[in-house]
Amino acid sequence: MTRFEGFDSRGYRTVDVRSGYAEWVATYEQTVEDAMDIHLLEALGEVPWEGVHEAADLGCGTGRTGAWLRERGIATIDGVDLTPEMLGVARAREVYRQLVQADVSATGLDSSAYDLVVTCLVDEHLADLRPLYVEARRIARPDGLYVLVGFHPHFIMASGMPTHYDSASGEPVAIETHVHLLSEHVSAGLAAGWTLVEMRERVVDDEWLALKPKWEAMRDQPIAFAFAWRGQDV
Ligand SMILES: C[S@@+](CC[C@H](N)C(=O)[O-])C[C@H]1O[C@@H](n2cnc3c(N)ncnc32)[C@H](O)[C@@H]1O
Repeated sequence: MTRFEGFDSRGYRTVDVRSGYAEWVATYEQTVEDAMDIHLLEALGEVPWEGVHEAADLGCGTGRTGAWLRERGIATIDGVDLTPEMLGVARAREVYRQLVQADVSATGLDSSAYDLVVTCLVDEHLADLRPLYVEARRIARPDGLYVLVGFHPHFIMASGMPTHYDSASGEPVAIETHVHLLSEHVSAGLAAGWTLVEMRERVVDDEWLALKPKWEAMRDQPIAFAFAWRGQDV
């Protein structure tokens, strides 16, 4: 892991994941852009969403990803998240079979139970990626898929911007952010027994700049990435 502190250009007060998302939940859905993750999910060509029967959404938050998976026709989705306030919003969406308050690296979900495991916009909050990839492998079926979408480490380093939100008083507050190079993902995934089948990256393009005009200085730089992994025992 590369330490974020060396890149921090904002100097925002930093809080832990549970405290941060407990407060951000009030405005989360209005501030997270689909361009960050949903567009990358849509771009993945190697994932046969329509063939998935049971999926696990690790770090499900308010259920944005779960709602998208349900629209793809996936009937049974279990969600896991550390923050009860985020799980409360996910519950109200009524797209999950069960929602579990747990760490993504120790979910308590059944082993070899899911055709697909998904993690969106969570990995930058983890000090160590390896337990996440191991847990995803444990709960996926032997030939199951794992899709991980993340906030690009290049963007975090080049912009010096942590994951953050505005508190009720208007103060920008950072949530504990870690930098994981893409090679760390590849090493962690391979070590956990996954085979990489697809990778996509999204840059700050005209569509992004229409959403975030202040990011002109970041034009054409990568902002998000997606990996699709498959179990080796096919
Ligand atoms: C940016 S939100 C993403 C939520 C959802 N996946 C989405 O794309 O909208 C990050 C979520 O990850 C959760 N989270 C962060 N670290 C976690 C951990 N170690 N275990 C479980 N959940 C975690 C937070 O509580 C929060 O709900």
